[in-house]
Amino acid sequence: MPIIELENCIKCMKCVNDCPSDAIDIEAGSINDTCIHCGHCVAICPESTIYPDSQDIIKLKPSQVSPGSFQDLSAGIRTCRSYLGKEVDKDTLELLVDNMKHYPSASNARPLKITILTKREAIASINQQTAETLIKSIGQITSPVLMPILQVLAPKLELRRLKAYKKQFVARQTPESSQVCHHAPAVLLFHAPATKYGMASADAYIWASYTSIFASTLGLGTCFNGFITTAMKRNKSMRLEFGIPAGHQVYAALLLGHPKVKYKNEAGREKPEVKYI
Ligand SMILES: Cc1cc2nc3c(=O)[nH]c(=O)nc-3n(C[C@H](O)[C@H](O)[C@H](O)COP(=O)(O)O)c2cc1C
Repeated sequence: MPIIELENCIKCMKCVNDCPSDAIDIEAGSINDTCIHCGHCVAICPESTIYPDSQDIIKLKPSQVSPGSFQDLSAGIRTCRSYLGKEVDKDTLELLVDNMKHYPSASNARPLKITILTKREAIASINQQTAETLIKSIGQITSPVLMPILQVLAPKLELRRLKAYKKQFVARQTPESSQVCHHAPAVLLFHAPATKYGMASADAYIWASYTSIFASTLGLGTCFNGFITTAMKRNKSMRLEFGIPAGHQVYAALLLGHPKVKYKNEAGREKPEVKYI
C-alpha cells in the first residue's frame, strides 16, 4: 500500500481527487484496501509525501517526443517478417521488459507474465507446432463432414477461403521455412491466468503494442503473431513445452529481431471512418 507522510502534506487534496477508487482518507493519513495500486496519488503529490509500494519516488523527466515525431514514428512501424541472423542481446530484452512497468492494465490488475524464447530450437519448435496445430484445426472445420454443416450454421466463416489458405499453409510448411516465426531471433509470449470476463487479452495487446513501439526506437522490428496465440490456446502440449503455467493463456505473441528490410514509403492506407456524436 502507498504510505502518506502526513507531516509534509499540505492537504491540497490532489491525491484524493485523482484517486479512482476513493481509497484515501487524508485526515487520517491512511489508504484503505479499495486501493488498486495505480500510483496516481504518488504521481500527483506536489510535495512528494506519498510513497509507492516500492518506496522510491522517481521524478518524471520531460519527454522529447513531439506530435510530429510520433506521427513519423507510427508511419514507419511496419510488421517485420524478415530478420537478420543477429541475436537480440539480453540487455535489450531486459530493457524492453523493464519498461513494461509503465504500461497500463485493466483495474491495474497487472496479471501478465512474459516468457521469451531465444533458443533457436525453441523457436523452430514453436514455429513447427503452431503450423501443425493450425493446419489440423483448419483441416477439421473444412473436412467433408463438417464443412457442409458449418456452411449452413456459420456462413460468415468463409470456409472456402480457409480451405485455400490451408493448402497454401501446408505447401509452405517445409523444414527450412519459418512461416510463423519468420526466423525471428526472439519470440515474446504475454500470458496470464485465463478468465472468462477478465481483460488480460486487452492488457496483453496493449503491452505488446507499447513494446513494439519501444523496440522500433531501438532499431528493432516486430510482428504480432495471432497464429501463435491461436495455436497455444488449442494445444496444451505446446503450453507445457514452453513453460506456460497451468491455467494461463497466451494472450499475445510478438516476434522481435533486427530487421533485414528497410521501408521507404508509407503504406498508403486510409484513415478509419469516424462519426462524431
Ligand atoms: C492482432 C494481430 C495479429 C497478427 N498476427 C500475425 C501473424 O500471425 N503473422 C503475421 O505475419 N502477421 C500478423 N499480424 C500482422 C498484420 O498482418 C499486419 O499488421 C498487417 O498486414 C499490416 O501490415 P503492417 O503492420 O506492416 O502495417 C498481426 C497483426 C495483429 C494486429
